[in-house]
Amino acid sequence: MGLSVAFEQLASRVTLVELDEQVAAVWKAIISEGLGEWLADQIIDLSFSLETVETLLQKRSLTIGEQALQTIVKNRINRGGILAPGAGRVKYGEKGRGIASRWYPKTLARRIRDISAIRERLRFIHGDGLDFLRQHTLHQDMVFFIDPPYTASSNCPGKRLYTHSSIDHERLFELAGQLAGEFLMTYNFDEPIVEMAERYHLDWHIIVMKNTHHIHKREMIIGRDLAWLR
Ligand SMILES: C[S@@+](CC[C@H](N)C(=O)[O-])C[C@H]1O[C@@H](n2cnc3c(N)ncnc32)[C@H](O)[C@@H]1O
Repeated sequence: MGLSVAFEQLASRVTLVELDEQVAAVWKAIISEGLGEWLADQIIDLSFSLETVETLLQKRSLTIGEQALQTIVKNRINRGGILAPGAGRVKYGEKGRGIASRWYPKTLARRIRDISAIRERLRFIHGDGLDFLRQHTLHQDMVFFIDPPYTASSNCPGKRLYTHSSIDHERLFELAGQLAGEFLMTYNFDEPIVEMAERYHLDWHIIVMKNTHHIHKREMIIGRDLAWLR
């Protein structure tokens, strides 16, 4: 979402905040360190096989660029792109291409180069999104898109998806309610989340999404006033 806003020039500056070290390595490499060209070249030059991938993933003491490459490779070969410990590998994949099933080097490299080209508009913070919100509650000139792990109810799809899957949802709703700027938040649709939104006097609306298994799921958009969405 943040990248789209930056590409479309809907904001003069976009800040992405992420806690996960593996994901953070990618944004640090491209946005903070200017290693996008290097990363894109590595992706194009990688001769992709079970052996080369295993060797790459076993490397330790990595530079930030190498960490970014590891994350991208892991995301492409793990089922559902999951990076959390315990994630399984794709077995047969698309068209029986196995481990290389989702390895599209040209697309990845192009995408990274595109992001690199607008990195002046982007800023990345490897940190806690709740802290960031707390520090910026009074900023009327900022808008926030909040996409937390979906772990706020027992019917929570996010638990096995992320290394950092547990956050203080109650605190997040409280902070969202205090923001002077506009915000949008996404969640899975579930009764406890509706209750939390109502407790903090937030507006909510149901939208239908398709998940990775092409199954329709109801999700919630939460904001201050979603009249424009209805
Ligand atoms: C639903 S995903 C959002 C993914 C994001 N929109 C993207 O495209 O990369 C939730 C993300 O929140 C991150 N996360 C969990 N707790 C966090 C926190 N306290 N601060 C910042 N990010 C956090 C997880 O690591 C995970 O990547």
